[in-house]
Amino acid sequence: MRIYKRNILITGGAGFIGSHVVRMFVNKYPEYRIINLDKLTYAGNLANLKDIENYPNYVFVKADICDYDKIQELMKEYHIDGIIHLAAESHVDRSIKDPFTFARTNVMGTLSLLQAAKLYWETLPEKYEGKRFYHISTDEVYGALEMTNPEGIEPPFSTTASSSEHHLAYGKDFFYEDTKYNPHSPYSASKASSDHFVRAYHDTYGMPTIVTNCSNNYGPYQFPEKLIPLFINNIRHRKPLPVYGKGENVRDWLYVVDHARAIDVIFHNGKIAETYNIGGFNEWKNIDIIKVLIKTVDRILGNPEGYSLDLITYVTDRLGHDMRYAIDSTKLQRELGWEPSLQFEEGIEKTVRWYLDNQEWMDNVTSGDYQRYYEEMYKGK
Ligand SMILES: NC(=O)c1ccc[n+]([C@@H]2O[C@H](COP(=O)([O-])OP(=O)(O)OC[C@H]3O[C@@H](n4cnc5c(N)ncnc54)[C@H](O)[C@@H]3O)[C@@H](O)[C@H]2O)c1
Repeated sequence: MRIYKRNILITGGAGFIGSHVVRMFVNKYPEYRIINLDKLTYAGNLANLKDIENYPNYVFVKADICDYDKIQELMKEYHIDGIIHLAAESHVDRSIKDPFTFARTNVMGTLSLLQAAKLYWETLPEKYEGKRFYHISTDEVYGALEMTNPEGIEPPFSTTASSSEHHLAYGKDFFYEDTKYNPHSPYSASKASSDHFVRAYHDTYGMPTIVTNCSNNYGPYQFPEKLIPLFINNIRHRKPLPVYGKGENVRDWLYVVDHARAIDVIFHNGKIAETYNIGGFNEWKNIDIIKVLIKTVDRILGNPEGYSLDLITYVTDRLGHDMRYAIDSTKLQRELGWEPSLQFEEGIEKTVRWYLDNQEWMDNVTSGDYQRYYEEMYKGK
């Protein structure tokens, strides 16, 4: 049997960000064995990883992170020495309707992974030496920032990620690594709680943990309940574009592959017990993003400019909708040399083209066919 240099457990690898991380690690590090553990909820889709599913250094395991016995078994079976934990319930609207599922997966699931890793690593002669528990979290744990400059101002930084036409900040404050946690939705409250557990395992047991908090991601393979893929698909099919409130809420956007690149750098070079913020310094009001999407999709489909603007439909605002998120990622840039590789225009162009070119993927996901197919395939495993 081949001996691998590292055996890394990636949880949630069949989801949006996880699939990019798994693909990057499997391709870039043939000397590592990558074990992708995913429950395949509605958000998990193995079709996201078709291109690498037969690689010798890739293993898929269908399991629930809350299944503590199973995780303990896997730690031993695969000699896991690194964990990159992405599995989560991730959609704010769903958390408002069903908070229990979020507490179960995001809090209890993270705790089950931490405890299984602790017990296994403590049995080894070298214990925590060379081990890593890397927890992926969100900027939403910091709460909301005020929009003090609704028209936008020149931001106090330059970045490769923001668009050359649009380079604005909508307030003076940003989220820093030491910003006090102040989550507002059941989703962000569950992520905040899991972040605290991860840090507590470092402080109490000395587990080598790292936490990162990232801004909104966009790119290929995102489940189309989220704004960007949903709206691209709706514009294509001339369906309404439901905009919460007045569309004034501001988010900071990062291309998903740039997040995966950051995860790679931090997993290998990040300092134990540290927190790193990851973001693009790329703030957009929802309504402006929607207009960019309309412009891009209409241009690519050969529609006249402004053709799909009539699809915009304002709907009642989300409960407790946070006004503005804006992340300061200078620590990561300064200490580990990471910065986004793509400008927003390039990222959006790539993303729109990917969804338009992959209508079959979109149709499978929206019809639920992928789940029936994989349920059949993994029955009884
Ligand atoms: N999407 C974003 O913009 C964003 C931004 C910052 C941080 N994050 C964080 O990154 C991580 C991944 O987000 P995403 O957008 O790729 O999410 P996603 O919803 O696309 O994927 C989540 C994956 O986790 C799996 N999963 C869910 N419950 C599970 C369980 N109990 N056991 C095993 N697997 C389970 C799902 O099947 C799915 O494959 C999450 O932790 C999220 O909080 C996301």
